[in-house]
Amino acid sequence: MFASRFAKRSTALARGFASSARAERKVAVLGAGGGIGQPMSLLLKQDPLVTSLALYDVRGAPGVAADISHVNTKSEVKGYGADDIASALKGAELVIIPAGVPRKPGMTRDDLFNTNASIVRTLAEACAEHCPKAMIGIISNPVNSTVPIFAEVYKKKGVFDPKRLFGVTTLDVVRSSRFLAEIKGLDPKDVKVTVVGGHSGVTIVPLLSQTPQGKDVKGEEYKALVHRIQFGGDEVVKAKDGAGSATLSMGFAGARFANSLLRAMNGESGVVEPTFVESPLYASEGVEWFASNVELGPDGVKNIHPVGALSVEEEELIKACLPDLKKNISKGVSFVNSA
Ligand code: NAI
Repeated sequence: MFASRFAKRSTALARGFASSARAERKVAVLGAGGGIGQPMSLLLKQDPLVTSLALYDVRGAPGVAADISHVNTKSEVKGYGADDIASALKGAELVIIPAGVPRKPGMTRDDLFNTNASIVRTLAEACAEHCPKAMIGIISNPVNSTVPIFAEVYKKKGVFDPKRLFGVTTLDVVRSSRFLAEIKGLDPKDVKVTVVGGHSGVTIVPLLSQTPQGKDVKGEEYKALVHRIQFGGDEVVKAKDGAGSATLSMGFAGARFANSLLRAMNGESGVVEPTFVESPLYASEGVEWFASNVELGPDGVKNIHPVGALSVEEEELIKACLPDLKKNISKGVSFVNSA
């Protein structure tokens, strides 16, 4: 399980930095009282690289914090209510944001735009004021639009650093690994799939041809697998039947992303996570934000990997992804700039 793997690696690393001020890492979770926020905060409490955990929500965060604070790991946990975001963010070096409403059956992620765009804009304003240098990981959907919204607010405030803003697409990678491993009867820990593009429907592009265990999946099986990766979130929304979308697997994925970023911030080299960032890869086609494998470093984005060799099918998937992604991004940009 990744928790124990990451704990082992992180403990070794944390020990190496035990006497260094760089090992002090305050992580804030905005939306900590929600379906994702709660399990993710619990997993962050188990991460030895997190020394202080600030849990903020407009509802319920002090209760969640009191509960999690009894777990006997070393980090401190504090909860903050609606009127105390400044204290939650003060000194935070990493802010993970799952605040906002989730989907109900029949909804696309874009249907969440009206509500979540305003929430993310408000939170971006607060982060720009109280922790402008923090790394930011955005989970709130639609990620393809909320990340550009966050960036535009930061640009207006004069604090935007593209190296420090990430859309969290880790769940797509986790699902791809799990679903492909299921087909092949393998342990998912040995199955790594790069997923590029964005984070909704056809903008999610798994590069199965680049995975030893995935390159011989063909025909109907290939189509079904790609569809399951692109629309895996719908399985959960349907099964929850009106009670929300993926929360537990997303909590897991969010904590994994945070751990990767913290390891890189603490000086570990070679940490690579697929994530949605301001990217040159398809900028010439008007798509300024794109998820691909990104090497993380002490200052955030260190190196954006190219997508690499694509199969004919993957070329088609990219072709289908780009126009939607472009629309989602410009919707976010205009939300801030026409307001
Ligand atoms: P939820 O409704 O269970 O929790 C959301 C929390 O955000 C609530 O506790 C609510 O009080 C809080 N919130 C609302 N406005 C806020 C504000 N202004 N400041 C701080 N907190 C605020 O929803 P859930 O299931 O946790 O999902 C959260 C978001 O994550 C949704 O937008 C969902 O679509 C998205 N999501 C993203 C995924 C990804 O892969 N990036 C995967 C699954 C969900």
